[in-house]
Amino acid sequence: MIIALAQTKGGVGKTTLAVNLAIERVIRRHRDVLLVDADEQGTATDFASLRGERLGGTGFTLVQLTKGTSVRTQIPTLREKFDDVVIDAGGRDSGALRAALTLADIAVIPFQPRSFDVWTLDKVASLVADAKLVNPGLRALAVLNCADPKGQDNAAAAEALADNPEIAYLDCPIGRRKAFPNNAAIGLSVFEAGQPDAKACQELERLADHLFTTPLSTQ
Ligand SMILES: Nc1ncnc2c1ncn2[C@@H]1O[C@H](COP(=O)(O)OP(=O)(O)O)[C@@H](O)[C@H]1O
Ligand SMILES: [Mg+2]
Repeated sequence: MIIALAQTKGGVGKTTLAVNLAIERVIRRHRDVLLVDADEQGTATDFASLRGERLGGTGFTLVQLTKGTSVRTQIPTLREKFDDVVIDAGGRDSGALRAALTLADIAVIPFQPRSFDVWTLDKVASLVADAKLVNPGLRALAVLNCADPKGQDNAAAAEALADNPEIAYLDCPIGRRKAFPNNAAIGLSVFEAGQPDAKACQELERLADHLFTTPLSTQ
């Protein structure tokens, strides 16, 4: 399974969700995971080095592929060697993001319904439409990140996606929780803190289960 965290906008949680999903697969499912850092900002790579120094190993394999051609040529070979591939792609409309969308089974598009993210969904939808010409099996799913704990964002999110022809809404919201930045700052996933944030863990597990194991349920 290839999951690409894809958004043309930065700061929406692509890297946060990519590294936490990758580690979730390693810790809970004992999968052999390849994490591809396809964002030239290199945040996933920085996270992996910090994690490696702290733990003596990351638990997953990281490759940095920031050019469209390297994504396109290397991932088809690499995917054969791993159980799951998670790609951290985007931050802008790049060749690497476009290439990732042509290879992924699922594009996960983190967004917040009450911000400018809603407008960027149209841009992402057109990238998804282009990618489907060569990758017709691609499923694009918008996931709420930094969601309102009272749950009001859910209705707003579903509404924002209702008329989008390319992107479906996956009802697995991730709340705004300090555990994400606090743990990432020390190279850890939300599962690995001394006292893990139970809600952050539950939300992440639920998202991972929907993406990787259970048949996709969308609204
Ligand atoms: N669910 C969340 N709760 C709290 N903070 C979050 C959450 N998701 C992301 N963040 C924080 O938001 C910032 C941007 O997230 P990041 O994953 O780097 O976004 P992107 O990769 O899309 O640019 C980071 O400081 C990150 O720690
Ligand atoms: Mg990032």
